[in-house]
Amino acid sequence: MASYRKATLADRQQVVDMQVYEGLDYIQNVYNQHLTEWNSSAYVGEKDGKIVAFHFITLVDDGDTIISRGARTREEYKHQGIINGLYEYAFNDFTERYPSVSWKGGVRHVIGHVTTKPETRIVCKAPFCTMKPISPDTILRHYGKSGRLSDYGSLQQLTKGQIHRLFTTQEVATKLFGEYNDHVVISWMPYRTMSDTNVQIIMEHENPTVFADIGGAGSNFDCTSASFSTRVPLYAKNYPSGTHVKFDIDIYSSDREMALKHLYSQVYHQCTQARASKGDIKIHFMVFLNCPLEREAVFDALVSMGMKPRTNFLGGLKDPRMFGSLSPIERAGAKEDRKDKTKASLTPTSKL
Ligand SMILES: CC(C)(COP(=O)(O)OP(=O)(O)OC[C@H]1O[C@@H](n2cnc3c(N)ncnc32)[C@H](O)[C@@H]1OP(=O)(O)O)[C@@H](O)C(=O)NCCC(=O)NCCS
Repeated sequence: MASYRKATLADRQQVVDMQVYEGLDYIQNVYNQHLTEWNSSAYVGEKDGKIVAFHFITLVDDGDTIISRGARTREEYKHQGIINGLYEYAFNDFTERYPSVSWKGGVRHVIGHVTTKPETRIVCKAPFCTMKPISPDTILRHYGKSGRLSDYGSLQQLTKGQIHRLFTTQEVATKLFGEYNDHVVISWMPYRTMSDTNVQIIMEHENPTVFADIGGAGSNFDCTSASFSTRVPLYAKNYPSGTHVKFDIDIYSSDREMALKHLYSQVYHQCTQARASKGDIKIHFMVFLNCPLEREAVFDALVSMGMKPRTNFLGGLKDPRMFGSLSPIERAGAKEDRKDKTKASLTPTSKL
């Protein structure tokens, strides 16, 4: 029988060594944060005197939702019900501290057709593409001697204040993310729009570079497309030469051409930034398409810049998709608690 408990900082190395996602794992970057931040907790499963499973939970949406992330079980301990046992332990521990939580969810990769329970709200169903590591200089050569990006009209990088408005202006958020039930997924993490605390969490934890086609600057703040690019340093042991960084690019647009412009703008921007930093740096891109752009078109665009697609990611899936869902948690009193929700109520009742 496996036993379960909260993770500690001393467990870090054992957890990091579990590495999943074929060298694209992000756990080492977020491990400490999830043990120490007020809105997150991490858990481990042990068997035979060692850590064999890990999982963490994050609280978002003004305290309404818990998101399950980072689940993993050591290869030789899979299919023994260990992760389900860990989910249950973690869920009970977390919701005891946050009784007002009424939704639970997560984002994962899926193969083939997705079936969902009728009560489940779909957050996203985005195809994605991953590329092999490449130096930023190789990519920038694509842009010619001038090293400049073509004119993409109104596309611009947003300031923190503008990002806040993007999320919290109802009309804009509905136009941009409405199809996805008013949620935006940034680097595998679903956030409800219209939540101040989510904007704060996104800016502190994911800190994405955001591009959008902004219309009016004042009260006419308008925007029909946006993309988020999040920097994820990769595990040094998987890449002994150079510094390897992955960028998760999430593109939201109802217009195919505009989506392509976002792709070029994000790649160009990240390569220019990377070239400015010292040392041998290699970039991996992972692009999530919440837009009408086909995976083939993205591959063609990236290959034309000198990149090569990763064919082995997740067992060589032909059409990998990211899938997110939220399920309501039915617990007596949850609705009452939600009515009195204030920012102060997000404070945990015990230290994480
Ligand atoms: C997914 C994973 C954590 C399941 O661990 P496990 O201990 O074998 O799971 P359990 O024995 O408790 O069984 C639960 C079942 O639900 C599935 N499952 C549970 N959580 C899952 C998840 N987050 N994503 C996909 N499948 C999941 C398991 O595949 C398993 O199905 P099977 O035994 O019929 O194959 C494990 O296979 C793993 O480490 N995979 C690589 C990392 C990964 O994909 N994590 C998902 C992050 S969202």
